[in-house]
Amino acid sequence: MSQDSVHGKWRNRWTFILAASGSAIGLGNIWKFPYIAGENGGGAFVLVYLLCISLIALPVLIAEVSIGKATRLSPINSIKLLSERAKASNYWVLCGWGAVIAGFLILSFYMVVAGWSLHYVLLSVQGAFNGLDGASSGALFGDFLASPSLVLGYSTVFLVATMLCLGKGIEKGIAATINVAMPALVGLLILLVIYGAAEGDFNSAFEFLFIPDFSKLTFNSMLVALGHSFFTLGLGAGAMMIYGAYMPDDVSITKAGVQIALTDTLIALTAGMAIFPIVFANGLEPGQGPDLIFIALPVAFGGMPFGSVFACLFFLMLSCAAFTSAISMVESTMAYIVERKGYTRMKAARIVGVMVWLVGLGSALSFNVMSDVTLFEKNYFDLIDYLTTNILLPLVSLGTIWFASWVMADKDVLSIFPDGRPPLLVVVGRWVAPLGIVVIFASIFGFL
Ligand code: TRP
Repeated sequence: MSQDSVHGKWRNRWTFILAASGSAIGLGNIWKFPYIAGENGGGAFVLVYLLCISLIALPVLIAEVSIGKATRLSPINSIKLLSERAKASNYWVLCGWGAVIAGFLILSFYMVVAGWSLHYVLLSVQGAFNGLDGASSGALFGDFLASPSLVLGYSTVFLVATMLCLGKGIEKGIAATINVAMPALVGLLILLVIYGAAEGDFNSAFEFLFIPDFSKLTFNSMLVALGHSFFTLGLGAGAMMIYGAYMPDDVSITKAGVQIALTDTLIALTAGMAIFPIVFANGLEPGQGPDLIFIALPVAFGGMPFGSVFACLFFLMLSCAAFTSAISMVESTMAYIVERKGYTRMKAARIVGVMVWLVGLGSALSFNVMSDVTLFEKNYFDLIDYLTTNILLPLVSLGTIWFASWVMADKDVLSIFPDGRPPLLVVVGRWVAPLGIVVIFASIFGFL
């Protein structure tokens, strides 16, 4: 099975780094990071988060990329082949399946939030935020969520675009999109930071994000930081494995891993510096949870000079970020179907798209027709989010780091790391990272 011919590779190291950063930078950075930092003590939380990224998430990222690069196959076939070569248990393949299923499930609810973002681009163009107050902004968002056809419609548009891009293949689809969307995202973000500095309360935002307040830091905040470090790097869902499978030969995995983690963190902090100046200048509460972006920010934009223009740029940026992440979530499913069935990319994309849409239907309807359908007090959307983010991702990540740092045969390790496993995979990968993940688990099930 020489796989280069099946999937192809990124043209150069930058395409890999850009694609992997695009996967990492998403709603997690712009929508989630600012509000969890807000809820958990700002700068103190940022410090813990940086520790989690470097000691736990980065080794997992390196492990994922290594597993992909070693065989250049989809996660399922890669782990299968590597465990055969290492004469290890066949059950390791479950780790590949878990990753593929996790990516698939994440897209099924991620597309819904991405759809909100698309809707908000159009609302800003229409000037819908002008003169909005807190209550009317809440009502605007609430009315939108209450409409099954609107929520489902926007999610579907987002999903169709994602699958069309994937159907075009890694060069003409993924790489071409990334080359446009990533510079656009960074450019828009810089514009927004400048706007925040000019029109907002930059100093309070800076203090909030960078001066630690340890009194607000609880044990739970540390767990939130740990969980988010996985989500934000897109770990545990096969995304980095499959992007690693397309990596050019002569690129250092460790160096690229550090660059991706740094870029992702920098963008999350910059997003904070775009959002919080506006939040503080308008007397809004930074720790108000997921509503921060879709309810509080529109109020602020509605009352600022050129607010509609900047609101539009903001939600456009959010949509770009969501798009470059979404394409990474089911690329491993696509690759598996192509390997297994030999279908064309477009045919595989149609199949995956229909399946994601059917599974995602419940998530789009969770805010309206199915809002009363709950299990363990969670609606369908929250349940899928919880199952994947808190259970599947850490579980698959644990398997992945264990596999790469203990199980993989020396010959395979040497084929990608000529000097042997890098220290990050030995010292940190063998002990620190697995322990960190076990701690998240224990806490989720109430042992801590
Ligand atoms: N990292 C992305 C974000 O921050 C989301 C994402 C992309 C993701 N690929 C993933 C999350 C794979 C988990 C697994 O929004």
